[in-house]
Amino acid sequence: MKTIFSGVQPTGTITLGNYIGAFRQFTELQDNYDCLFCIVDQHAITVQQDPDELAKTIRSLAALYLAVGIDPEKSVLFIQSEVPAHAQAGWIMQTISYIGELERMTQFKDKSDGKDAVSAALLTYPPLMAADILIYNANIVPVGDDQKQHIEITRDLADRFNSRYGNILTIPEARFPKNGARIKSLQDPLKKMSKSDPNKKGTITILDTPKEIEKKIKSAVTDSDGVVQYDVENKPGVSNLLTIESSLSGVSIDELVTKYDGQGYGAFKAGVAEAIIAHLVPIQEKYFELLDSPDLDEILDNGAEKANAIASATLSKMESAMGLGRKR
Ligand code: TYM
Repeated sequence: MKTIFSGVQPTGTITLGNYIGAFRQFTELQDNYDCLFCIVDQHAITVQQDPDELAKTIRSLAALYLAVGIDPEKSVLFIQSEVPAHAQAGWIMQTISYIGELERMTQFKDKSDGKDAVSAALLTYPPLMAADILIYNANIVPVGDDQKQHIEITRDLADRFNSRYGNILTIPEARFPKNGARIKSLQDPLKKMSKSDPNKKGTITILDTPKEIEKKIKSAVTDSDGVVQYDVENKPGVSNLLTIESSLSGVSIDELVTKYDGQGYGAFKAGVAEAIIAHLVPIQEKYFELLDSPDLDEILDNGAEKANAIASATLSKMESAMGLGRKR
């Protein structure tokens, strides 16, 4: 059976973008693949975090993974820092990465732009992410399309490792959702919806109340022609809302366009908000049940144990191939 690996950073509250781009794929895939899903806390510290807040967010993200439908009987759910092989293999991947290729990464350029104190780890984030994927011999990595470049460099690094040290690592492939690989901000539909957007009106989080969701969708930027049509170039706001409703409800965009024909943006936005609320409320109910449950710790302990077994075996092969320690 093929292996799936993906990770989400425990920073802020998960957005509707994360949900549609990543979590939806995870729950779809877990019946047919060996799945490992990770809370990538070591990635989160590439920018300074408040320790109490980070600890809380890690737990909250674990509960959210389960609330959206990750089944610990089918998938391995764990915290990155509880599996030491990530950082160990991350170091190895750094040794085969070039500074130039890391400096060219769009995310590094965006996050470091205009700042004088940028952590070295922000630059070496991609080799750690490559290690995350490669130590599980993952074949498929379900992500939103902002991660495309990271998966490409992972493939390059795996290939480089294999050509230097022998065929050890599996070259993974990215998997993007057909609909909703890049959900846009409600306030600026040319930008991706992001946890770190200072304009909170642009982002719906998975824990927003129905009232907040209605308000945010009502104030979503559209255009002035009042026609519900899918046209990303000329009507990015309306197209984004159509994508959101379609991906949550499973109704095709064409059918939604017919449904809202001649109805104006008031009715359209009410419909989109209703679809989001119908989808998120049951997830929120499960989330609050799980958050303080002792089951959560047991699931994470089991997950770390299973992940450790796989990851340390691959790490051992990598170290031996490179001549490290006394493994040869
Ligand atoms: P992160 O935590 O920023 O995002 C988690 C997942 O959500 C997707 N996503 C979106 N999809 C659609 N529309 C959006 N607006 C949107 N915003 C975010 C992301 O593409 C991602 O799939 N580097 C990764 C974390 C990571 C990882 C890994 C992922 C570390 N190691 C190994 C896969 C495999 C990140 O920062 O994701």
